[in-house]
Amino acid sequence: MKVLVTGGAGFIASHTNVELLGAGYDIVVVDNLANSSKESIRRVERLTGKKITFYEESICDEKALDEIFAKEQIEAVIHFAGLKAVGESCEKPLEYFDNNLCGTIYLLKVMKKYGVKSLVFSSSATVYGLPEKLPITEDFPLSVSNPYGRTKLMIEDMLRDLYQADKEWNIALLRYFNPIGAHESGEIGEDPNGIPNNLMPYILKVAAGELDYVGVFGDDYNTPDGTGVRDYIHVVDLATGHIKALEKLQQNPGLVTYNLGTGKGYSVLEIIHNLEKVIKKQIPYKIVERRPGDIGSCYADVTKAKEELGWEAVKELDKMCQDAWNWKCKNPNGYQDGQAE
Ligand code: UD1
Repeated sequence: MKVLVTGGAGFIASHTNVELLGAGYDIVVVDNLANSSKESIRRVERLTGKKITFYEESICDEKALDEIFAKEQIEAVIHFAGLKAVGESCEKPLEYFDNNLCGTIYLLKVMKKYGVKSLVFSSSATVYGLPEKLPITEDFPLSVSNPYGRTKLMIEDMLRDLYQADKEWNIALLRYFNPIGAHESGEIGEDPNGIPNNLMPYILKVAAGELDYVGVFGDDYNTPDGTGVRDYIHVVDLATGHIKALEKLQQNPGLVTYNLGTGKGYSVLEIIHNLEKVIKKQIPYKIVERRPGDIGSCYADVTKAKEELGWEAVKELDKMCQDAWNWKCKNPNGYQDGQAE
């Protein structure tokens, strides 16, 4: 089966590509490399010994998408492509609406034209806003507080409307919690541009001596140690969730929604201390102001994915930290290392 992976050079997508190729799928990747590197594609090919058909195109180019669908016999799409920095989305909302919303509309139009009606969409736990209680189940009310989150929720709404209008579609909305870690080979991992916004890549830079200390955003939340609690999931576990979702779509389920998390919450300090244990070195940190828009705690109820997909995360926090550190040590400059080989 041939699967189109939009945004296929990115962090979660590259790990999903490894699992897809391992499971026998053929892959076509469309990525404009706005926030990713072609090197990740090359590394996935090297890891798996298989070829990926790669198009350096934007999903906002409807004509280019049309040509790809005309040429390749695509049967399903995993849609990762999109801008994803919360702070940037507040400064440049139109860019986020244009890329994420318009790009998705073009993709859906072309899929419809070619009769491809199987879609896995990368949504986010951000669509739960400030949850009233924990853990979060898929039927919780949805709300968002920034343009990035709004694009995720609007795309979910678009897909729900599309399905109402045409029941031939099979759509899996996957709501990711906090992916960290890396492939255990250390060949692929997270490679953010500039100073990272997210916790784990930031800690890795401090651990490597590239940044002075981790600013812990607040220690006065209503959590055991006062710092923010999140549901961190190993990116390889998250990747296997996509394979299970694709398999589910083969059974004509209609539109389905799943939380992909571990169901366990860890605080910022627990993450820092766990990584210290792995690298056997202290990681300097300072408590700083809360980050606007952050919530205290967020973790998933993962029962639905377990029951309906037969999927659950199996990798523990130690493994997430070990694999993240292994990737960082092997690639101190991310994909820039090894590009010239
Ligand atoms: C963030 C986004 C979320 C998005 C997700 C994608 C915000 C408010 N939310 O989630 O919409 O879907 O990334 O990966 O940006 N922290 C620190 N110091 C840091 C960085 C983070 O203390 O330098 C804390 C945060 O306050 C939070 C936890 O670490 O408690 C995790 O933060 P982060 O990795 O940015 O993820 P989220 O905020 O959960």
